[in-house]
Amino acid sequence: MRVITSVRAMKAAASRLKDAGRTIGLVPTMGYLHRGHLSLVRASKRAADVTVVSIFVNPAQFGPREDLKAYPRDLERDARLLRGEGADILFHPRPGDMYPTGYKTYVEVHELQNKLCGVSRPIHFRGVCTVVLKLFHIVRPDRAFFGQKDAQQAVILRRMVRDLDLDVRVDVRPIVREPDGLALSSRNAYLSPEERRAALVLTRSLKEAKISVSRGERRASAVLARLRARIAAEPPARLDYAAVVDPEELEPLKRIDRRALVALAVFIGRTRLIDNVTVRPGKKESPDKEKAR
Ligand code: PAF
Repeated sequence: MRVITSVRAMKAAASRLKDAGRTIGLVPTMGYLHRGHLSLVRASKRAADVTVVSIFVNPAQFGPREDLKAYPRDLERDARLLRGEGADILFHPRPGDMYPTGYKTYVEVHELQNKLCGVSRPIHFRGVCTVVLKLFHIVRPDRAFFGQKDAQQAVILRRMVRDLDLDVRVDVRPIVREPDGLALSSRNAYLSPEERRAALVLTRSLKEAKISVSRGERRASAVLARLRARIAAEPPARLDYAAVVDPEELEPLKRIDRRALVALAVFIGRTRLIDNVTVRPGKKESPDKEKAR
């Protein structure tokens, strides 16, 4: 696996690959890799000739009071895991190379960026879109791979690609979970053992939501009321938001008469975790087999 740390060298490598007719798969990450990221690397390896994984803790997507400094990092371990998966290039640019002094250009996907997570993280999606568009220009991928855990991010990036006529296919892969159901996240590393137990309230409340829709509940308000009550009953959990929305426009739904996204963000102590499930009326879910996917 080649490790590239400058934008210039990455652009040169991408040009050579394109000239040779090779297809490029990109897995953009902020590092501290887990099985969810590795499933994206595997998907890219199946779909493209060359797989590039970027590791860049993007300052532009963190608010002033967020965890940019504390965000977990372990480049050596990440590189080892990526070698094990057969990734071809690890692109690990320096912040000053991505955002040189005087940097002033940002990309925004209006409206979609202000909903759900955008309410409590107002500059987050502007930062995500900006860095991802830069990565697309630098790496020139044919396909780019993202996880469904960040459902709003996936919706916004798809819209950016569509609106800006970018020649890249956005591939969104299912959430990867721990055996007990907790969605994998680099931020799970912040949780104490007690918080780790409490964090299961995300999975469990979403699972209940999915089952209640499969049993005929159509009122989003009733689904949300149960979800909120479940989370309120589990200190140290504190709800940031819970919502039942249209999966493309992210507009709140009153009735679940079609496919809907149930999304939530919950503080477990000081750690903010997100998770979501897609629900479909008429789709039977058995409580045993049901996974909060
Ligand atoms: O999902 C993430 O890890 C980040 O938001 C991304 C897409 C790598 C952009 O920094």
